[in-house]
Amino acid sequence: MSNPILSINQMYTSFHVDGETIPAVEGIDLSLYPGEIVGLVGESGSGKSVTSLSVMQLLEGTPGKVTGGDILFENQNLLEMTDREKRKLRGNDISMIFQEPMTSLNPVIKIGKQLVEAIREHQSISKRGAEKHAVYMLDQVGIPRAEEIMKEYPHQLSGGMRQRVMIAMAMSCDPKLLIADEPTTALDVTIQAQILDVMRNMRDEHHTAILFITHDLGVIAEMCDRVAVMYAGRIVEQGTVYEIFENPKHPYTKGLLGSIPKIGSRAERLDSIKGQVPTAEDRPKGCKFANRCPFVYKHCWEEEPPLFDGENRCWLHEQKGESL
Ligand SMILES: Nc1ncnc2c1ncn2[C@@H]1O[C@H](COP(=O)(O)OP(=O)(O)OP(=O)(O)O)[C@@H](O)[C@H]1O
Ligand SMILES: [Mg+2]
Repeated sequence: MSNPILSINQMYTSFHVDGETIPAVEGIDLSLYPGEIVGLVGESGSGKSVTSLSVMQLLEGTPGKVTGGDILFENQNLLEMTDREKRKLRGNDISMIFQEPMTSLNPVIKIGKQLVEAIREHQSISKRGAEKHAVYMLDQVGIPRAEEIMKEYPHQLSGGMRQRVMIAMAMSCDPKLLIADEPTTALDVTIQAQILDVMRNMRDEHHTAILFITHDLGVIAEMCDRVAVMYAGRIVEQGTVYEIFENPKHPYTKGLLGSIPKIGSRAERLDSIKGQVPTAEDRPKGCKFANRCPFVYKHCWEEEPPLFDGENRCWLHEQKGESL
């Protein structure tokens, strides 16, 4: 097998707010191989965005900092790079799609100009060449009348079109790694399906590795090769999509899967896991899922389980050596 393009090893990220330290991510291990789509799933607050911002080195401007571990991109430690090296990498070898496209598009600059600038920042290419490439990319993400859209401002486009522009921008430098944080959450299902297709095609054609962040297990099932399930700043289970969906091992994963509304059922609320994710400040001492777990026993409260076999962070895994 080839080497991973991204390898996150024992990464810790915490925030310092009002003199207190909030541990948002505590000891994550995650690797992505070229051409692989890996899903990162988990309830709100589990640390998915913090993980992606840590990899992108975009925590400056927040009270957050990576405090431990390392993040290797093609065997180079991102944490040891100079600002200049990091800037060169971002948008060139690594790009990111954010959940809200307006935050990364400038409202007062025409779409075409923004795309051309993004392309030229990272590639030595003529203005005309960059324009041609921008139109090509818009076309690739399924935008009709691409030449005309180039002359429009972001607010003239619908949300779905803006998100496609963002995806075009993120993919325009042919990145080796794309981090997509809830890229389609705000979109209606038809547009969502179209955008997922575009991303899959780009992976197939360019061998891009994609870290796909979502709380939507349906999208994960459709898009990803592997899945990592996050809970309270940790990965509690990881495996292939098939393994996770056919034979989920961790009680939290089972709960999440149980919360997918069935087609035809009237259940619309994702509430089959009782209770709330503990805040980073008051996580239980042992297993962080202990206060919500239907299988909890004494040991779970006392000591945190490791990720057994690299796949399941649950004491029952050790006890039974198999799934529950
Ligand atoms: N700017 C910040 N300042 C302080 N704490 C933060 C900040 N951003 C994140 N955190 C902490 O990190 C935790 C994880 O946040 P994160 O945004 O990664 O969650 P998430 O898994 O992306 O959730 P969602 O599904 O809602 O996007 C939060 O619960 C919070 O404690
Ligand atoms: Mg998030």
